[in-house]
Amino acid sequence: MNEFPDSFVRNTWYMAGFSHEVGETLLRRKLLGRAILLYRKSDGVAVAMNDRCPHRFAPLSMGDRDGDTIVCRYHGLTFDGSGNCVRNPFADKLPRGACVQTYPLVERDGIVWFWPGDPEKADANTISDFSMLFVEGHGAPLTGYMPMAANYEYGTDNLLDLSHIEFVHRGTFAGRGVIFAGQHELLQEANRLQSNWWMPNISAPPHTAGIYPPDMRCDHWLDMRWDAPATMYLQVGGCPTGAPRDSGIINHQAHILTPETEGTTHYFWASTRNLPPSPEGDAMVHGLLSAAFNDEDKPVIEAAYRNLDGEDFWQAQPCFVGIDAGGTRARRIIETLRKGEKDAL
Ligand code: FES
Ligand SMILES: [Fe+2]
Repeated sequence: MNEFPDSFVRNTWYMAGFSHEVGETLLRRKLLGRAILLYRKSDGVAVAMNDRCPHRFAPLSMGDRDGDTIVCRYHGLTFDGSGNCVRNPFADKLPRGACVQTYPLVERDGIVWFWPGDPEKADANTISDFSMLFVEGHGAPLTGYMPMAANYEYGTDNLLDLSHIEFVHRGTFAGRGVIFAGQHELLQEANRLQSNWWMPNISAPPHTAGIYPPDMRCDHWLDMRWDAPATMYLQVGGCPTGAPRDSGIINHQAHILTPETEGTTHYFWASTRNLPPSPEGDAMVHGLLSAAFNDEDKPVIEAAYRNLDGEDFWQAQPCFVGIDAGGTRARRIIETLRKGEKDAL
């Protein structure tokens, strides 16, 4: 029986963190409303378990590591990486029911994926591909994390409707009207959406700054792939007008949202460019993206969510303007998945 709230899709993969975040130290992270402990065993395998001792419920993350086991800080019960109690300091006998629930984890493309649903259904083949973040000759992609005081679906609304660039990102990569000159298409294949913008024959787009002259005529695209419930890959591209796309400058970005609670979200992002590695270029891109997400997206998403005062999204009767079709479709798919899980119980 699953104990994660049924307001979330549970039989699916969520990002628990970046691989580089999970190591020797005990990392406590709330995922889908529940505190989870993440750490890496000495054989390199990462572990996820409830961050709650079954005795008097102390967070295990307050405890100590003894090799690959965790010693509870409160009364010393000790658990291994499978969540089994392996030591009781007060008796030889291990207390009944003293085990901690663990969860399937898979690491791929520098991301730790966590499965909160039925472990029997956890199929690693359904994990979204982010191998494009690893470009030959480059080191690890740039990464960032932003906590967001809003339900994760409000983040999806934002990312699947990039028309907000014109208004929200005036201080960073505002499109100077190019979104209005663009064409948008929304494609669906099962639980995957592709929300694409195509802006042909415009002046050089912001992500080519310093490489293409500003007045060079370019074709520009913003292709967003969404996998339910909130795993997104954005390809930001620009090439000389009429040239093949792969001859251009491409920025691969991951935007992955994981619910922390009903009203808060972990926003993980990563970025790689198909340009020769450059510390200055990386610092510029990291600064630009951090500023755009933290100073521009976050305040407006949080304020919009807060402005509903807990009212349900659909009850509030949002009006539709066309370019928001991606976010709306994503919400419908999530609703169908949630309903399917509830009905199956
Ligand atoms: S609360 Fe963990 S051993 Fe008592
Ligand atoms: Fe944005």
